[in-house]
Amino acid sequence: MNYQAILEEIREEIKPLFQKGKVADYIPALGRVDPTHFAMSLQLFDGTTFGVGDVDCKFSIQSISKVFTYSMAISLYQKTLHKRLWHEPSGNPFNSLVQLEHEKGIPRNPFINAGAIVITDILRSKYKDQTFSKIINFIKDIGNDENIDYDKEIALSEIKTGFRNMALVNMMKSFKNISNEIKDVMQIYFKQCSISMSSKQLSRAMLYLANHGIDPITKKEFLTSSQAKRLNSLMLTCGHYDASGDFAFRVGLPGKSGVGGGIVAIVPDLMSICVWSPKLNKKGNSLVGTKALELFTTKTGLSIF
Ligand code: DON
Repeated sequence: MNYQAILEEIREEIKPLFQKGKVADYIPALGRVDPTHFAMSLQLFDGTTFGVGDVDCKFSIQSISKVFTYSMAISLYQKTLHKRLWHEPSGNPFNSLVQLEHEKGIPRNPFINAGAIVITDILRSKYKDQTFSKIINFIKDIGNDENIDYDKEIALSEIKTGFRNMALVNMMKSFKNISNEIKDVMQIYFKQCSISMSSKQLSRAMLYLANHGIDPITKKEFLTSSQAKRLNSLMLTCGHYDASGDFAFRVGLPGKSGVGGGIVAIVPDLMSICVWSPKLNKKGNSLVGTKALELFTTKTGLSIF
């Protein structure tokens, strides 16, 4: 298959959509991104890459970080994680409070904000003051790339304005589902969301999930096959919040989005993909990115179904 030609075709076809959508500005520093950026990167098991657009331009990975922190937690605590959070789609916005109170502080899944904050709390209990460096080193390791850091301006902007996240964590603390000091957990959570990576780096970092938890290039095992199955299933059912059904319907691949406009997806046993376009649809997922992935699976027939 001529992947490069398909990516070029997609780039042409999505052009009219650049008028639509809105950059996330509830985190003020994120709102300053140039909305015209577009990048799409593919990574194959033999190391071959394909790409169009700003593939080396770094952006804020935001909720895509939740894939990596959940990977760390599931490999440490697979048997006990279900006591702290579930594996069900929420059917609600990623930062919703209503369901969380109703369900006594147990988040529906690790990919909504509340669930990701619980995961950060679990990692903080294990790694204490080293937690953030463990997270970023894990991402460097799976990405086989030392050149990954977080954006201090975005982290600070989130710390100053993350009122809703603070409400979520306080609510969970009141239900005894947060063990550490709120301040310590949230500093790590905001920093992990503000990690910057390019679409090329992110597609590379996702390759272990396309290959049952083992990086096919370095041969390092990051998850067991069973853990990778679970994580991919969660991406399919919960990776796009209350638009997870729509993403599965249109794209047909496990994927995870972030409000920075990135989406990662995997084609099992073949490749990992990242697309980036900062303007979001009403559910907080990249508008052009979702369409680009839909075109990709339609043109190539490479969905899991
Ligand atoms: O906590 C937040 O609201 C952001 N740091 C991350 C949200 C996010 O990326 C949800 N994604 N679609």
